[in-house]
Amino acid sequence: MGRLDGKVAIITGSTSGMGRDTAYLFAKEGAKVVVTGRNEKRAQAVVDKIKADGGEAIYVLADAADPNFASTIFDATMEAYGTIDILMNNAGMLSLAQFATITAEEFMADININVTSALMLSQKVAPVMKAKGDGHIINIASIVGWAAHWGFVAYVTSKHAMVGLTKAMANELAPTIHVNGICPGAIKTAMLDSVGGEAAFDPMIARTALHRVGEGSEIAHVALFLATTDSSFVDGQLIRVDGGVDV
Ligand SMILES: NC(=O)c1ccc[n+]([C@@H]2O[C@H](COP(=O)([O-])OP(=O)(O)OC[C@H]3O[C@@H](n4cnc5c(N)ncnc54)[C@H](OP(=O)(O)O)[C@@H]3O)[C@@H](O)[C@H]2O)c1
Repeated sequence: MGRLDGKVAIITGSTSGMGRDTAYLFAKEGAKVVVTGRNEKRAQAVVDKIKADGGEAIYVLADAADPNFASTIFDATMEAYGTIDILMNNAGMLSLAQFATITAEEFMADININVTSALMLSQKVAPVMKAKGDGHIINIASIVGWAAHWGFVAYVTSKHAMVGLTKAMANELAPTIHVNGICPGAIKTAMLDSVGGEAAFDPMIARTALHRVGEGSEIAHVALFLATTDSSFVDGQLIRVDGGVDV
């Protein structure tokens, strides 16, 4: 018996990286998984693997920059499965634009994709969870939502906002819906590669107790904890999953 048997889980940004690893784990635990992203080939590949392993999943293509992002995912999920138990707001982008030159449009792209889309999808999903008397929302922030990293001004701001959004939503949605977040450290994904890969993180790895970067599956297992009653007295919390940076 799986720990998520009978549950329906939306995981945004699950065509790659830690979202994809969470989709695989949740499906293995019995959840019906809604895989989302913009890349159809990768989305199809994730669904195919889940099904080949005996699980159940659909994919929904939606761009988090699009105002219809939330309704597209919500409507497709309700049509396919009729309910929603778990939402992981994970889709994200990282702009390399610097403080001195960033434009308002570049800044707002990070805010809209990393934060606004999570708020709007949560707003759609919450009434369904409230009506059924249970629900779990997991927001993926970052350790740069905890303390600033030089550069990435829009990303740092968006992840601080994701921390605030998590706490605000936990207050608004308690006691029916648990809202928590994860602050990953450096995790081996396409996003890490986009900023120079592991080598670029050597200074951070030197400040990390475990002296390594993490795997997407190590985020997935914490997400599973937050998606089950194992975390029944955890609410409005941001869990750092970073191997012990600066401990
Ligand atoms: N890797 C790290 O070290 C690290 C550290 C802290 C926090 N994070 C956070 O972890 C989350 C997942 O990132 P990852 O590291 O797993 O990176 P990743 O492998 O690049 O995955 C990013 C996911 O987000 C989706 N996505 C990106 N832009 C999107 C958009 N405009 N609309 C819809 N979906 C979009 C991508 O799907 P498509 O390409 O199909 O659109 C992909 O599935 C992000 O929120 C990121 O900020 C990552």
